[in-house]
Amino acid sequence: MAAAGGAALGQSALAAGEPSAIPNPVPYRPSLPVPGAVAAAGIEDARFPDGFLWGMATASYQVEGAWNEDGKGESIWDRFAHGAGHIKGSDTGDVACDHYHLYQQDIALLKRLNQKSYRFSIAWSRIQPNGTGAPNQKGIDHYKRVMDAVLEGGIRPFCTLYHWDLPQWAEDKGGWPNRDLAGYFADYAGILARELGDRITVWAPFNMPWEFTYYGYGIGIFPPGKADFNQFLKAAHTVSLAQGECFRAIKGASSKATVGSAYGMAPAYPKTDSEADHAATARFHAMKNVFFLNAALKGEYPKAFVGEPPYELMGMRPGDDKIMRAPLDWVGFHYYTRRIVSEAGKAHTGAQQQYGTEVVADTGDTNGSDPYTQYHAVMPTEGPLTHAGLEVWPRGIYDLVTKISRDYDHPIIEISECGCCYMDTPYEKENGRIPDERRIAFFKGVLAELARAIADGAKVRAFHAWSLLDNFEWNDGYSQRYGLTYVDFRDQKRTVKDSGLWYGRVAASNRLS
Ligand code: FCB
Repeated sequence: MAAAGGAALGQSALAAGEPSAIPNPVPYRPSLPVPGAVAAAGIEDARFPDGFLWGMATASYQVEGAWNEDGKGESIWDRFAHGAGHIKGSDTGDVACDHYHLYQQDIALLKRLNQKSYRFSIAWSRIQPNGTGAPNQKGIDHYKRVMDAVLEGGIRPFCTLYHWDLPQWAEDKGGWPNRDLAGYFADYAGILARELGDRITVWAPFNMPWEFTYYGYGIGIFPPGKADFNQFLKAAHTVSLAQGECFRAIKGASSKATVGSAYGMAPAYPKTDSEADHAATARFHAMKNVFFLNAALKGEYPKAFVGEPPYELMGMRPGDDKIMRAPLDWVGFHYYTRRIVSEAGKAHTGAQQQYGTEVVADTGDTNGSDPYTQYHAVMPTEGPLTHAGLEVWPRGIYDLVTKISRDYDHPIIEISECGCCYMDTPYEKENGRIPDERRIAFFKGVLAELARAIADGAKVRAFHAWSLLDNFEWNDGYSQRYGLTYVDFRDQKRTVKDSGLWYGRVAASNRLS
């Protein structure tokens, strides 16, 4: 019976030694010009400055596993993934890449690939498993050991304090809409800076603060799964207070510390040349890209709203501008893709399109609706699409980096994440190599455009490829692969993809070919 079933699925026809049933795609050699692609000369000529920090990124819940070991408490992502119906294939981060146990091997990979910076995140629920107060020594000791391995490899640790895995106890107190979380977060930051400040000097409070507040409280696709725009507004304000408090807690505990950010950004272009579309594009940029950056650097929110800002709903109090303000030492942000934006007015549906962690949020009057920003943002499909459905548009990083440079007085910039999803697997005919040529093409284009921004004066000092490893991709579970290293989740075997080998050569030579 089993054999017959297999045959019906086309699985049992292969004799031993025959090539795999699902061959790898033919190498990516587009014969027609690819819209948005960078000309070959732009890639040939691209150069990066001496000392440029080539890096790779991961995040605790996506790679660590060991979800309940060494005293770790439950996080909202543990709860969400364990609940039915949230994650594709019912996948969870319980084991993920088992990086918690295999970190030495993974850091050795970074070293082998000539990496100079490792962006990772700490799981708050390992440090304070059950509530505020005394930390869990086993959790702290784990990260001390990881940092020692990173530093021994001659690699700079870049620590994100919060990559979405809120301790469940903090959610039980109301989560980010509860203003008290700013204080709890500052306590946690102080503990980290005291315990790890001798090893870590580069800190980012939050990964993609707009996304986790909007997705978690505004539209409910992330934990805790709430869909209420007013809750999002409150959560966003708490996070911006927390960002300021965290800045001061870290600086107060570690004199060597520098504090920056890891915002999610997407350059936005107006759909038409109308004044209304230009204004909507500016609101999108204010909301998605620089809401928290502006709060930190200027102590005020940028103009993301039509009419009077809903400060009361956000829970703003007199003096909050001073709490929000934090003169970041450097500005970190991600680049994946771009948006086209138009004025939404009030006659629209509230529909959303989701591409992994990139949600193109419409506005409207249902489910996550928002009468305040009134923009309509879509991701165009002029360029090629990755397996995750994101448009490949190299020019976007140039426009974004140069805009942030101009608007914020030429800060030091770190690209905290950039990458693409393709599903290439080991190819038996080539000794198990992983010829992920589309990923190489993606990075060549984006990096050529980044080099051009640097040549035009932007002070970019680091670039982190997402990701060191294929890993747990949030709602998509293990069905999306962003790694420059392939992970076989059945036995945790790592194999560096062709893109990883190529990126290692880029890191050694500061050029793309
Ligand atoms: C970013 C997230 C990261 C990963 C990539 C693909 O938005 O910060 O954790 O999921 O997308």
